[in-house]
Amino acid sequence: MLNFSFHNPTKIHFGDGQIKMIANEIPTNANVLVIYGGGSIKHNGVYEQVVNALTEHTWCEFSGIEPNPSYDTLMKAQAIIAEKNIDYLLAVGGGSVVDGAKFIAAAALYEGDDSWDILAKQMPVKKALPIGAVLTLPATGSESNGGSVVTRDGNKLPFGSPLVRPQFAVLDPKVTLSLSDRQISNGVVDAFIHIMEQYLTYSVNGKVQDRFAEGLLLTLIEEGPKALLAENKEDLEIRANIMWSATMALNGLIGAGVPQDWSTHMIGHELTGAFGIDHARTLSIILPAVMKVKRNEKHDKLVQFAERVWHLTDQDEAVKVSKAIALTEDFFQRMKVPTRLSEVGLSKDNIEGIVQKLELHGMTQLGENRDITLAVSQQILELAL
Ligand code: NZQ
Ligand code: ZN
Repeated sequence: MLNFSFHNPTKIHFGDGQIKMIANEIPTNANVLVIYGGGSIKHNGVYEQVVNALTEHTWCEFSGIEPNPSYDTLMKAQAIIAEKNIDYLLAVGGGSVVDGAKFIAAAALYEGDDSWDILAKQMPVKKALPIGAVLTLPATGSESNGGSVVTRDGNKLPFGSPLVRPQFAVLDPKVTLSLSDRQISNGVVDAFIHIMEQYLTYSVNGKVQDRFAEGLLLTLIEEGPKALLAENKEDLEIRANIMWSATMALNGLIGAGVPQDWSTHMIGHELTGAFGIDHARTLSIILPAVMKVKRNEKHDKLVQFAERVWHLTDQDEAVKVSKAIALTEDFFQRMKVPTRLSEVGLSKDNIEGIVQKLELHGMTQLGENRDITLAVSQQILELAL
């Protein structure tokens, strides 16, 4: 196992009716900015619950954060923060809203000339406004991690800091009942691939991390397809298991002390940045190709994945690995997400541009071994056609 320091201070309030807990978590003397997206929270009772919980607080709101939050939109919040002396942010929404709040929090106290440098130049975040989150879409893990992804002019860039990790997060599975099938699928697949990014590398004998990761993968494989069935549309237990899996997938626990890949995500970000494809759908296209191109380097873990997650018992390890990759693709298909670039209207002609974007963003040595060069990324994209 590799050395690690693990500290996740996000307090989680999980379950039905827990939105009211925000009243105790946010200091009553705070000036709160409630941040949300395109308005789904106004149709599913979440906004009302937040308003009811904040009766003792001074608050105002900023809305309109779009999926894959845009820098220009986020910067508009800065005027309100200055005008109203905002000193606490409450993000109410999916990963885009939480990520957006993180950037707003960091930009509000950034002392450099241009807040875009936090993303483009990876300038360190030295101060940030405190954040709380009410999560409405289980997927990204953003509610209890320090990561955020922001888009500007087709460039989708990540930044991270412990200072933007939410202080608390409310996870009420009931609020996820209003999600469309597309967003349910996206969430399950994004969480699944977060686990794979931290699991499918090379073994360092991290038994706890591996078995936690396998448990989460098995849960998502069991519960994900069920959530799409008409007869389960009101099933809160399925939603609860998906929601907790997605948080646990990217709250730092399973990734502590083990190598991490993240090449699928970095290539996927270029597909969203350039073509607007949903985050999870870029991942379901890229991951199978990464598994195929890196099957030698990832061999031992692929065999373990085949045996423990797909329960394959073939004698021949190569057969086992091929079957495990095919079963992973089959799972994505059952979750109704694409597994090929052609399914989202992209062809060979688009690959050169994507590779150029990877180069522009410094994504030239990806993967746990830093050996996914631009040429290897090109190979991955070609295999994903
Ligand atoms: O904007 P509203 O109206 O709220 O609608 C949203 C949005 O249209 C809707 N939605 C959310 N909760 C709902 C709901 N609709 C009905 N009922 C509900 N309960 O869903 C749509 C998509 O929301 P979004 O927040 O964009 O989805 P997601 O949570 O998948 O977040 C994706 C973003 O997170 C980033 C992605 O790159 C992408 O920008 N990621 C962040 C990560 C992190 N911070 O650690 C890691 C991830 O790998 C990912 O990169
Ligand atoms: Zn993701």
